[in-house]
Amino acid sequence: MARDAVGDVRDRTDIVDLIGQYVDLKKTGRSFKGLCPFHQEKTPSFIVFPDSGNFHCFGCGRGGDAFTFYMDVERVEFREALQELAKRAGVELRSVPTVAPEEDARRRHLIEINEVAARFYAHVLDKSQAGTPGRTVMAERAVSDEMRTRFGLGYAPEGWSHLLDHLRTRGVDPAMAVEAGLLSERDGGGYYDKFRGRLMFPIRDRDGQTVGFGGRIVGEGQPKYLNSPQTPVFDKRSLLYGLDLAKDAIRQRDQAVIVEGYMDAIAAHQFGHANVVAAMGTALTEAQVAAVSRHSRHIVLALDADTAGQMAMLRGIETMRETLDHDEVPVPDARGVIHFERRLKAHISVARLPSGKDPDELIRRDPERWPSVVATARPFIDFMIELLTEGIDPGDAARKSTVLAELAPVLRSLPDRVVQAHHIGTVARRLSLDERVVLGEVRRPSTSGTVASRPGPSMTSTRRTAESHLMALLLRHRTQTAEVAARVPDQDILDARNRELLRVLRDPEIASLDAEAIVAGLDDELGDHAESLLSALGQDPGQAAAHARKEAEQALLTLGRERLSTLMRHLQASIREAQESQEADGMASLSGQIAALYDRHRRFYPPPSPYFRDIRDEPTAR
Ligand code: UTP
Ligand code: MN
Repeated sequence: MARDAVGDVRDRTDIVDLIGQYVDLKKTGRSFKGLCPFHQEKTPSFIVFPDSGNFHCFGCGRGGDAFTFYMDVERVEFREALQELAKRAGVELRSVPTVAPEEDARRRHLIEINEVAARFYAHVLDKSQAGTPGRTVMAERAVSDEMRTRFGLGYAPEGWSHLLDHLRTRGVDPAMAVEAGLLSERDGGGYYDKFRGRLMFPIRDRDGQTVGFGGRIVGEGQPKYLNSPQTPVFDKRSLLYGLDLAKDAIRQRDQAVIVEGYMDAIAAHQFGHANVVAAMGTALTEAQVAAVSRHSRHIVLALDADTAGQMAMLRGIETMRETLDHDEVPVPDARGVIHFERRLKAHISVARLPSGKDPDELIRRDPERWPSVVATARPFIDFMIELLTEGIDPGDAARKSTVLAELAPVLRSLPDRVVQAHHIGTVARRLSLDERVVLGEVRRPSTSGTVASRPGPSMTSTRRTAESHLMALLLRHRTQTAEVAARVPDQDILDARNRELLRVLRDPEIASLDAEAIVAGLDDELGDHAESLLSALGQDPGQAAAHARKEAEQALLTLGRERLSTLMRHLQASIREAQESQEADGMASLSGQIAALYDRHRRFYPPPSPYFRDIRDEPTAR
């Protein structure tokens, strides 16, 4: 089920819509027809196949997918086509902030100031008289010295200018410290400490650099936590507390546990559960999931039992699902060049804590029990259904309707029909509704537009496989297959990336390079694609090389046969239509097209192609 961003853009691009902007298209049967934009013609022989997302011109032989069309018609490179179509399809391109050199220096400076402050607060907590209230809390909450050091905990003393004075002695410009979120400006001019009388939790990025703080009030008071404001280096929504300290353990255990609070994460680490990070009380974001899933794709949310907290944390996950299924997302950089960022698929499950307990209390009271609590985690979807349908009065029609409306998009986004049917059944039972009612709600077209309609499994999947297999062989066994690579008809390669790759493979300048060297030299997006082709080919024992050429020939023939039979099926259907409506002109041009198609096929896939004869001998059998 792994899907790549290019595939995603392609699936979300309505090729009829796209081409319709350049060509006047008319529907004929399941396809669309118009005058070819690539060559001069009077009768339409340019066909768009919405089911497979491809086009083909029976006149000039051009064809391909939406990217190819856009590249050809707009005369742009693959990257630009991808970027533009992604934009049109509403596929989110996570933009990488443009980092100019002076901007970069400023970011570094902000981090330095945060680190100076972190050392100051830690020193106060550790040694200073002013740190006594902080040390008391540490003792009350039984935070070990080791954890205090590891997490760099500190204390911001009562008073208005402790940090300010300290920063001054270090030559830090107070205006910059304001920007870092550590000082505030007085109305009448001057500065004062923003964090006062608070236990300080340095928040670090995954490299361990301090980018912000959470400050917990000691004793009662409001707000309970004061956090650094959003700054150029601090974006709470993309950070996870403790990830710098947890990432190795997450990798080793192949599991990440996300809790809600700072203290929860610290308690977990203190008792040996180092794969725990904290979401800092906000709804989990896609950026946070992406950050953890670099280390493991198994993510467990350990949520407090109270429903409000759970819902807050889960908000947004449903809209994430689309992305979670993807392996790669296109990311444009400062120059507008797209490269692919690998995002591992994530599997999110939810563990519900016993009521009235947060992880901190639970772990401290009974450290041994934590793994079994985490082990109760259930898939997100089950959890969501249970949570939303809990305690519903079967007579409360309005409530049932609200709940169903909330669940429908989640159910709709399930790609597997069997799994979907299973959950629809559960929801129907739990809401005491007929399954058809639930199904109706789920099938209703999505209004949010976040869920793309997927073409059902069709010919395209086998086709892409033959195409990928061929490309993988051509890449892996350069020398053995060079001759085959030279013969592949570009127009029958439908994936625009494969066409790019083919061009590279044919370049005489790199004839001597092996697959790895070529992949290394490719642009990011092509390189990732090439890697996935190679990995699909599997570990390749040396003896496979001996058969490489034969196998490539075979794959090429399969490709040609599938291409021919697809196009033939189309022409036959058109002929039937023309016969029914007794269009003599149409008939004549169609039989011309059939003859041209055979000619073309014979030229590119000459006998002894056994498939050629199969198809020609029984053209109506399919
Ligand atoms: P909690 O209120 O559960 O705090 O909020 P906690 O971490 O368990 O703290 P203790 O145990 O009461 O000392 C969970 C998380 O939500 C964020 C913080 O990240 C906190 O750790 N939060 C909470 C805020 O950012 N601001 C707030 O005012 C409250
Ligand atoms: Mn707590």
